Amino acid sequence: MVNNIDWSTLGFHYTETDCIVRAACHDGVWEEPYATKNKYLHLHVSATALQYGQEAFEGLKAFRGVDGKVRIFRWQENAKRMAESAKGLYMTPVPVELFGKAIRLALEKNIKYLPPYGTGATLYFRPLLIGTTPRLGVGPGTDFEFIVIPSPIGPYYPGRFHCTTFIVNRHVDRAAPFGTGQFKVGGNYASSFRATEPAHAMGMDCLFLDAKQHKYIDECSAANFIGIKGDEYLTPRSSAILPSITNKSLMTLAKDMGLKVTRRKILLSELSEMQEAAACGTACVISPIDKVVDPDNGITYNISSEPGPVLTELYNALQDIQYGRTKDKHHWCEII
Ligand SMILES: Cc1ncc(COP(=O)(O)O)c(C=O)c1O
Repeated sequence: MVNNIDWSTLGFHYTETDCIVRAACHDGVWEEPYATKNKYLHLHVSATALQYGQEAFEGLKAFRGVDGKVRIFRWQENAKRMAESAKGLYMTPVPVELFGKAIRLALEKNIKYLPPYGTGATLYFRPLLIGTTPRLGVGPGTDFEFIVIPSPIGPYYPGRFHCTTFIVNRHVDRAAPFGTGQFKVGGNYASSFRATEPAHAMGMDCLFLDAKQHKYIDECSAANFIGIKGDEYLTPRSSAILPSITNKSLMTLAKDMGLKVTRRKILLSELSEMQEAAACGTACVISPIDKVVDPDNGITYNISSEPGPVLTELYNALQDIQYGRTKDKHHWCEII
């Protein structure tokens, strides 16, 4: 373990570790992943990642369990989602096995950066896929680099299981209905900054609506939206949102708890009928939403000033699996 890191005050910030893992691909053939201390790329200035945004990434975590064992949560899902993002941007997908090998190697080489149990911190992995072919004419390249960047992190929202206020923005869209919203690609995030940065400056986060009608909830800035209405777990169905692995897991746990799980278009105005709402994702796990501000219509939807009982139960159920405090009956964790 590293002595100069205060695990309990770590935020969602990059902390340098010993090694990253890299693998290159040329004309459809992937090389074996290797660990290196070199965190810099020797990249051509005309690489398709730089010129045309041919880039995709992922985010997943390893946890130190209550039993001292190390668990990587659902990395296969991240591998599959990255393959979808790659296909969406005409990149050669990273084979699932290679993805897993690279994550395990990154963990093994940086095991001293895995935060101890009980600190709330985890070891986060940021897999990255970039186009490296030099090109001037618009089009995809044929050479790629896959990189796994590890970093110990604390909670995404300070205060761990605390409420966050969201604000709606009808003047900036995150992704078009048939654009790249369902892929985890850098361009979606760069195009969101015009909405997320002003929201952050006001102490809030941004809730994106469907880009066509601005009527339905799409997703939170870097997380899916979930709402609790009676005994129903509601989450948006939209072609423009990222299929969250946390949301997928919570839907399973919600069914286990006897809740009705519904994925459908959700009107913004339905917020007034919800007892609980939250953003969910790998980084924040579940971040309850206390209110949503709609400045265009002068409306504030007050949801719940405290984290509600259903979301609290779901949060605990998921974290119990990730930290090995309960049986992993869905086989979501790989124990290393
Ligand atoms: C736009 C967006 N939506 C949803 C999520 C949540 O996805 P996951 O639960 O797989 O982390 C993320 C984070 O990865 C995201 O960036």
